[in-house]
Amino acid sequence: MNVLVTAGPTREPIDPVRFLSNRSSGKMGYELAAAFQHAGHTVLLVSGPTTLDVPDGVDFLPVETATEMQEAVSHHIGRMRIAVFAAAVADYTPAAKAAEKLKKSSDTLTLELVKTPDILGSARMAMGFTGTLVGFAAETEKLSAHARDKLVRKGCDLIVANDVSKPGIGFDSNFNEVTLVYPDHDAPMPRASKHDLAHQLVQAILELHHTLRQS
Ligand code: PMT
Repeated sequence: MNVLVTAGPTREPIDPVRFLSNRSSGKMGYELAAAFQHAGHTVLLVSGPTTLDVPDGVDFLPVETATEMQEAVSHHIGRMRIAVFAAAVADYTPAAKAAEKLKKSSDTLTLELVKTPDILGSARMAMGFTGTLVGFAAETEKLSAHARDKLVRKGCDLIVANDVSKPGIGFDSNFNEVTLVYPDHDAPMPRASKHDLAHQLVQAILELHHTLRQS
């Protein structure tokens, strides 16, 4: 089956040398891409900048910004059966990128930010994706409630929710602890390495895919 995975952070340019970004290392998404490939699927990994090696046998599309990630996803998602959005996409980007490096001319500097495209949120309606749609949710409170809200608003079949306020998991860690938020129930999973967790997630996503496509 064709599977799309997004991973890593996006970088939103302020000027030629500065950008807004976040602490995503890409590990979770890259492990998922490798696990789907290991399970015999054809994987396209769309990734923001990371220091990771591309998993063997995985097709790779590097991007920088949220807009570039949206263009890559919308171009390829039509031929996918499963799409998993593990990327930490910046929610805001500078309204304008300065052509030259900004000078330290004043004591304060105000940046105007505008919303980035909601890639996951546009997969169903704007991109017409009819396969199994899996989002992630990085939350610091009310994990299940906030993830469930995203599940409904973004038309997902499953949200993989992680509490990124917990030490030792989430952003830039080798471990994660997630709750699978389905439309009708939650399934907490024990803390595990991202490598092991990715294999468990792939099994759960494939089971969901088969259940949805048979019903
Ligand atoms: O990369 P690692 O260091 O391994 O860390 C893994 C992780 C913490 C980044 C990962 O497990 C994770 O939680 N990824 C989602 C992070 C996030 O941005 O969550 P969110 O709750 O802000 O976004 C919800 C969903 O919408 C996500 O699937 C996200 O990819 C997607 N999104 C968000 C904003 C946007 N403009 N477009 C999107 O598609």
